[in-house]
Amino acid sequence: MPGLEDATRGRLLFGGDYNPEQWPPEVWAEDVRLMREAGVNLVTVGVFAWAALQPEPGRFTFGWLDTVLGLLDEGGIGVALATPTASPPPWLGHRHPDTLPQGPDGVRRLYGSRNQYCPSAPAYRRAARVVSDALAARYAHHPALRMWHIGNEYGTACHCDHCAQRFRGWLSRRYGDLDGLNAAWGTAVWSQRYGDWAEVLPPRRMQYVGNPLQDLDYQRFVSDVLLECFTAERDAVRAHNPAVPITTNFMDFYRHTDGWRWAAAEDFVSLDTYPDPNDPDAAMRAAMSKDVMRSLGGGRPWLLMEQSPGAASWRPVATPKRPGLNRLWSMQAVARGADGVLHFQWRASRQGAERAHGAMVPHAGHDSRVFREICALGRELAELSGMPGVPGVLGAGVPADVAIVLDWDAWRAVELDHQPHHGFRYVDRLTEYYAPLWRANVTCDFARADGPLGGYRLVLVPNLYQVSAAAAANLTAYVQAGGTLVMGPFSGVADPGERVFTGGWPGPWQDLLGVRVEEHWPLPDGERLDVASAELGDFAAATWAEWTEARGAQVVARIRGGTLDGRPAVLRHRYGTGTAWYVATLPEPEALRRLLDRVCADAAVRPVLPGLPPGVEAVRRGDRIFLLHHDDGRVELR
Ligand code: GAL
Ligand code: ZN
Repeated sequence: MPGLEDATRGRLLFGGDYNPEQWPPEVWAEDVRLMREAGVNLVTVGVFAWAALQPEPGRFTFGWLDTVLGLLDEGGIGVALATPTASPPPWLGHRHPDTLPQGPDGVRRLYGSRNQYCPSAPAYRRAARVVSDALAARYAHHPALRMWHIGNEYGTACHCDHCAQRFRGWLSRRYGDLDGLNAAWGTAVWSQRYGDWAEVLPPRRMQYVGNPLQDLDYQRFVSDVLLECFTAERDAVRAHNPAVPITTNFMDFYRHTDGWRWAAAEDFVSLDTYPDPNDPDAAMRAAMSKDVMRSLGGGRPWLLMEQSPGAASWRPVATPKRPGLNRLWSMQAVARGADGVLHFQWRASRQGAERAHGAMVPHAGHDSRVFREICALGRELAELSGMPGVPGVLGAGVPADVAIVLDWDAWRAVELDHQPHHGFRYVDRLTEYYAPLWRANVTCDFARADGPLGGYRLVLVPNLYQVSAAAAANLTAYVQAGGTLVMGPFSGVADPGERVFTGGWPGPWQDLLGVRVEEHWPLPDGERLDVASAELGDFAAATWAEWTEARGAQVVARIRGGTLDGRPAVLRHRYGTGTAWYVATLPEPEALRRLLDRVCADAAVRPVLPGLPPGVEAVRRGDRIFLLHHDDGRVELR
């Protein structure tokens, strides 16, 4: 199996999306000259070039791409060649309206933008395969080719009749027959029993709230059906040259595609990330997303496929990155395991929806702050690649003693309709636990609930509403064998079939945690819970509480006052040779920081470097420690 190392060939990758089809050929030569000046060694070509490559069915126009790839190759610049299937040309939708995606409202989304395809439509599948196959037949052995970039940011959901048909097939493989489906979906509720497969539909617009498992299964199906599109194109291009590594670009915390399943289907993981320069927590959020990418790839290097050198034009307020910020966030990616830093895009588009988007060569041209910073970054990355005899970062791993459990099913399920608290968002829960560790410079991986955990000193489960038998046993075994676990509230509530566990929560973990939850107690906005703790100091909590009872665990903190007066809010339980904590509420950030400090100390989890001033991020990669200063002004390190 090829990997990212087959594309890097000893150098950190540097470059961006290159859309030469938007420019007259005179500009191409200047592009290559400027790319060389900037130290660019990889550009992503063809992501949105379907119409330029195949102006009508059966007719291909590869001449311009031959020229472009030739120029790039002469300039020593590698290519991530994209299958252009994220944006079918109007001719496809016009001739085959059934390839246009249909919303839950039954309305078709027309061409004129991008991403307008139904992943189940046979005509789309056929056309996508034809164009990918033709592209690979022509370029799979091109000397400039470094990797395949399949599609773009998979994630479009469709609710049409083709999808209904495929959804029925997906369901019948999962549940066998209609009896199985009726039992699984609990169709006895509200008279939803299905007597014929033809009656079974994707969730569409309904009179009132729909069946939760229909919704959840459809989300699972959408991820799977998009993955089928990915693998079909992957296999089509791979057949022409199995030595070329293949990827597709993920987004930051994207619920629609199950990262674990998708990462397993590609040769390496890549990320598009657009932190908001106006968000004071942007660096922390960005670090979290980058740690997810490294983790999805099993710790192997990943590729930062897209970030903006300046503004992201889809933001309501598209403030550019201040001087130095693109360098800082690029280095953060390398520190957290990326073997390349690419941008959207190389040259700013004069026309089209993204004319206000940042670019490596901005509208002002190469005589600009942005381009000068790009050139400086290119030089710096080349140095970091490692000269002979100097240890580099390329290919090196990022050690972590802490794992945070990340689970797409649990995420989707906890955010279904008619859960006890509408505002309970999964990624917020992960962020609350990640943030204090990031600030303390404790590096975290993300891990599957049913994956190997033995190598970690500490495992955090900020929330795991839905839990499989395998995950339940896995976390229990981890603690039994000496691990330390911290679990947050509203966990262990339902099984993967969205059946609520009976007899108290966290269903399968009551023994492990030494606690029994009888009732979930979401709190109205603005209500503060007063929590008393000699060990952690008193603190406030909000949004969520539980009617808990200690059944063997030691009570570390108790609710004081109100309906839940005296109920345990934080508990600690020795189990096997390990320790399991349960946090039955959402403590204010400072209190969660104290709690995690305490847990880290007990579990001998240490920061990369102790005692750094606030705003300084430290990450170890291979033999190097990266120090990244995120605040304004100077800071002195001793
Ligand atoms: C990404 C996309 C790129 C570009 C970019 C702008 O979502 O893959 O093609 O549109 O956003 O921020
Ligand atoms: Zn469809």
